[in-house]
Amino acid sequence: MADRRRIWLTGASSGIGAQMAEALLVSGARLALSARTLEPLKALSDRYPGQVLLVPGDLTDSVQVREIGKRIAQAWGALDTVILNAGTCEYVDARQFDAALVERVVRTNLLASSYCLESALPLLRAGSQPHLVGVVSSVTYWPLPRAGAYGASKAGLRYLLESLRIDLAQENIDVTLVSPGFVDTPLTENNDFPMPMRWSAQKAAQHICQRLEKRPLEIAFPAPFIAILRLLANLPKRLQVALGKRLARTSDGKPS
Ligand SMILES: NC(=O)c1ccc[n+]([C@@H]2O[C@H](COP(=O)([O-])OP(=O)(O)OC[C@H]3O[C@@H](n4cnc5c(N)ncnc54)[C@H](OP(=O)(O)O)[C@@H]3O)[C@@H](O)[C@H]2O)c1
Repeated sequence: MADRRRIWLTGASSGIGAQMAEALLVSGARLALSARTLEPLKALSDRYPGQVLLVPGDLTDSVQVREIGKRIAQAWGALDTVILNAGTCEYVDARQFDAALVERVVRTNLLASSYCLESALPLLRAGSQPHLVGVVSSVTYWPLPRAGAYGASKAGLRYLLESLRIDLAQENIDVTLVSPGFVDTPLTENNDFPMPMRWSAQKAAQHICQRLEKRPLEIAFPAPFIAILRLLANLPKRLQVALGKRLARTSDGKPS
């Protein structure tokens, strides 16, 4: 991606998104950066003058997202790549099931992404070799305990993007899904269970950015972790449930 591609990257204020922003800016791309926290976006803009368009906002607010789309249209007239990376995670306590928690997670991970799609697609149609990228999660391969809200939101986003991929193929808009395993970021820092094979955010971002150039259908990592999840998903259902229950017992020392 060593060119002046016009990229809208969401969730650029921390974690994987902040590291992707850095890698893409080094490659010479122009970036429209979104998140609610302005300071880290501003810091990138100061370090890479002329390459950054600041489009902060709360992406769960459809009005703000439309405004962001208008600002990108005014500044650039088009987008070549959109990377829907913004996301959140909260864990379900099945003993005190909280529908509001599910609503919050789905709103950020699925609905906000759909608001972004509404603004982004007309701009991508006007872009050069358009590429739509969505960060889902390896959790969509195999259900993990307490991850019901997060997994449901990411499975929903996966379906939305995989279905859109078929619809958008006739317009030559490529769609890539990114499925990270565990990555060290503010999103995972309070996890109270082991996170096998976890990567740094920088390593994850480098991996994603290198592979994006080839526009694969999916970028899933780390490979051994993904292979294990895929293997588990192919086991008989009862065995999967037994293994899941075992994981629930050992994940935080208390049953979930
Ligand atoms: N870390 C992992 O192990 C892992 C694994 C699989 C998938 N993922 C996915 O990777 C993506 C990046 O996550 P991360 O781990 O890098 O977490 P992170 O450091 O918490 O980053 C999340 C980003 O999303 C932004 N965001 C959240 N809610 C927003 C909202 N309402 N409006 C605008 N921006 C919002 C945050 O910015 P503000 O708070 O400033 O708004 C932040 O920039 C997420 O989609 C996550 O689900 C992460």
